[in-house]
Amino acid sequence: MHNIQPWWKTGVIYEVYVRSFQDSNGDGIGDLAGLTQRVPYLAGLGIDAIWISPFYQSPMRDFGYDISDYCAIEPIFGTLDDFDRLVATAHAHSLKVILDFVPNHTSDQHPWFVAARARRDSPKRDWYGWHEPGEDGGPPNNWLSIFGGSAWEYDTCTNQYYLHTFLKEQPDLNWRNPGVKAAMFDTMRFWLDRGVDGFRVDVIYALLKDDFFRDDPTNLKFRPGDNPYESLRHDNSLESPDVHDLLREMRELLDSYDGERVLIGETFHLSTLERFVSYYGKNLDECHLPFNFQLIMRAWDAQTIRAFVEEYEQVLPIGAWPNWVLSNHDQHRIATRAGSLAQAKLAQMLLLTLRGTPTCYYGDELGMSNVPIALEDERDPFGIRVPGQGRDPERTPMLWDSTPYAGFSTVKPWLPLTDGWQDLNVAAQQAEATSILTLFRALVALRRALPTLHIGSYATFACTPSSVFAYLREHGGERVLIVLQFGAEPCVIDTAVLGVRGEVLLSTYLDRIGSIPLDQIQLRAHEGLIVRLA
Ligand code: GLC
Ligand code: CA
Repeated sequence: MHNIQPWWKTGVIYEVYVRSFQDSNGDGIGDLAGLTQRVPYLAGLGIDAIWISPFYQSPMRDFGYDISDYCAIEPIFGTLDDFDRLVATAHAHSLKVILDFVPNHTSDQHPWFVAARARRDSPKRDWYGWHEPGEDGGPPNNWLSIFGGSAWEYDTCTNQYYLHTFLKEQPDLNWRNPGVKAAMFDTMRFWLDRGVDGFRVDVIYALLKDDFFRDDPTNLKFRPGDNPYESLRHDNSLESPDVHDLLREMRELLDSYDGERVLIGETFHLSTLERFVSYYGKNLDECHLPFNFQLIMRAWDAQTIRAFVEEYEQVLPIGAWPNWVLSNHDQHRIATRAGSLAQAKLAQMLLLTLRGTPTCYYGDELGMSNVPIALEDERDPFGIRVPGQGRDPERTPMLWDSTPYAGFSTVKPWLPLTDGWQDLNVAAQQAEATSILTLFRALVALRRALPTLHIGSYATFACTPSSVFAYLREHGGERVLIVLQFGAEPCVIDTAVLGVRGEVLLSTYLDRIGSIPLDQIQLRAHEGLIVRLA
């Protein structure tokens, strides 16, 4: 059947944290040329698109999310020629390339901020969020930085405060200034003209703030021991409603290019599910995919996840396309959250069979878990400022083979390798018929082969025990049942209402296919099955 859906609906997205994927020049840090070398591996996984973490010129205070030139490549990562080669190689392997666009803030070393900071009457002054001190001489209001402390930094050069939602080295741009918008849209054009297939837009919900800079209200659900940032509700510092006008313009810019360029929004600290889906736009004219992080936020439990999937399916605007994320460079890895390799396998089956575009995180296909980092070895500024919030554990080097440093580099990498990397690496798992890597490839291939899995409808299949989450995908008369045993007990499921026999297409154990009776489907500990119904 001819597939007329856009690639970002039917495809699988894979996030590459470029610092940790492949080092090509022996400095212990991943780079663009290294990533280019690994394109055949990525194409071989069967995925459709790579989203690459920021590689622009940066002082690296937040490892590339602090940009000092949006149109230049940070020398650690390579050159513009390396970038062009990467895009050409990816496209030659039918992989789309999605860039990470970071519009909320620049680096404090960006020439715009350097100019803005120098004088109150600088033409760039209003490009950032400058404010007089509050009545007591302190910060203008109570807004907090996501990375700890006040969101305001007093600048003795001109005796005003400036706003920074993240580090003080990441001053927030003022998107209400038309010059900012024009300049930033130009940077998007720069990359679109170079052939990129879309953007993942960083903290899209934070681009505009309350025009009157009103205080954020207290969060009554806050408990001692929670991240102090959660002590307030961020009604005024984030999620200003007029951000939607801006996103429509961003989307128009992408739509003015040929070839289905995608707009993905990082939609994280959102207060409600309704707010979250509003990022699709009233006429589906904003983000194609506002990232859905609920598999990360909610407990790893069959009924919790079932309930959310149903809620999401209910609340999605008509025509809005769902999407799912299991892990990323800011969150603990799924293998760690789910607790075992068997559950990590189950999680991949969930991610790759739910209705909607899946985003995978590099290394999750190997079942990589968080790598514990001692406090004194911590590199992530978030973890250094707010104990317990460090993101280094999920950013460790990709494991390629059993040569020293796992084939990632020829020298000691910038972050340590996962324990047990000698068995977990790609080369080792490739040779193993029942590895999670083999399962990942089989899942992606099946998802591609069966339109039911990539565009079919979703319906929960109610069954017992409660540790099982089961659902039906259906398309053009084909019905596929997915049954996932989250629990550690073997169990039997009765699906007789669906027919007499079904055909197992895949088990997370990778050891059985073929006909089974539907009145008693046997599941082992943490087993997931994909069953085609007659
Ligand atoms: C986003 C990124 C995160 C970064 C922050 C500031 O949340 O995913 O890694 O630190 O924005 O840019
Ligand atoms: Ca390197």
